[in-house]
Amino acid sequence: MTETTSTDSPAFPAAISTQQQAVEQTLTNNVLASFEDCTDPRLKQLMQSLVSHLHAFIRDVRLTEAEWNTAIEFLTQVGHITDDRRQEFILLSDILGVSMQTINVNNDALGNATEATVFGPFFVEDAPEIPIGGDIAGGASGQPCWVEGTVKDTDGSSIPHVRIEVWEADEDGFYDVQYPDNRVTGRAHLFSDDQGNYRFWGLTPTPYPIPHDGPVGKLLEATGRSPMRASHLHFMVTAENHRTLVTHIFVRGDELLKHDTVFGVKESLIKDFAQQPAGTPTPDGRDLLDAVWTRARFDIVLAPASIL
Ligand code: BEZ
Ligand code: FE
Repeated sequence: MTETTSTDSPAFPAAISTQQQAVEQTLTNNVLASFEDCTDPRLKQLMQSLVSHLHAFIRDVRLTEAEWNTAIEFLTQVGHITDDRRQEFILLSDILGVSMQTINVNNDALGNATEATVFGPFFVEDAPEIPIGGDIAGGASGQPCWVEGTVKDTDGSSIPHVRIEVWEADEDGFYDVQYPDNRVTGRAHLFSDDQGNYRFWGLTPTPYPIPHDGPVGKLLEATGRSPMRASHLHFMVTAENHRTLVTHIFVRGDELLKHDTVFGVKESLIKDFAQQPAGTPTPDGRDLLDAVWTRARFDIVLAPASIL
């Protein structure tokens, strides 16, 4: 059992002298005290807690000055590669599980409400509207997939006319915005019908890597981690008086479900994408010219807006 000079502080590693512990604890206490007069109570809490955890980390791992310099250089590179189209800080947050933990903290599990997951960098405002049963592919390559479901509240009542945004990568693992030609494919929005039902054609999701040609990719490589995400289809569902749901559905059986590099997979979001042999009649009579296709069901339950 190691000694500490304050009951608020974590234990020091063994072999750190009491005198040295006092030096380190005094600095932590001084920095904490510097925020004492902050008039915004939430900002004060955030800064003091951040300082406590950062100092505890430095003392715990006995951070070397060379490692501190490397960290500063890394964050500088993260800043340099970030622009209007590339947000490396969010990628960093994603691969550290910080994005998912923030989502968890802000979307309390609520009975049967559909669980949220990571937003990702590839949502685009003003994606085209498609009618119920329309096709979000817009020319993107991939295996056709029929997706259908209901939108209900946690009491089981249908919610009509809910806005449903959907977006996904093509079969080569790229979103439209990753191509240089301003195409708009693999994304659309539609509205649930009078009974709260929806359906559309999309593409069977395939796995793809997060952008990994920058410092975050180097960090993944240095730590022996893969940049791959499990196959998924993104949803954002918005309805008045309900908590906006940002989520994905994942493909049951995908080998990457346990290794999603942004920790986005939740068991309840894994769905069957049932293979339909060539020639199987489609639900809306669409002629797929003997292509194999899949179908998936995703029943969405929205939490009330008042529950955070
Ligand atoms: C995505 O789902 O597309 C994504 C999510 C987090 C980081 C990078 C990509
Ligand atoms: Fe994605």
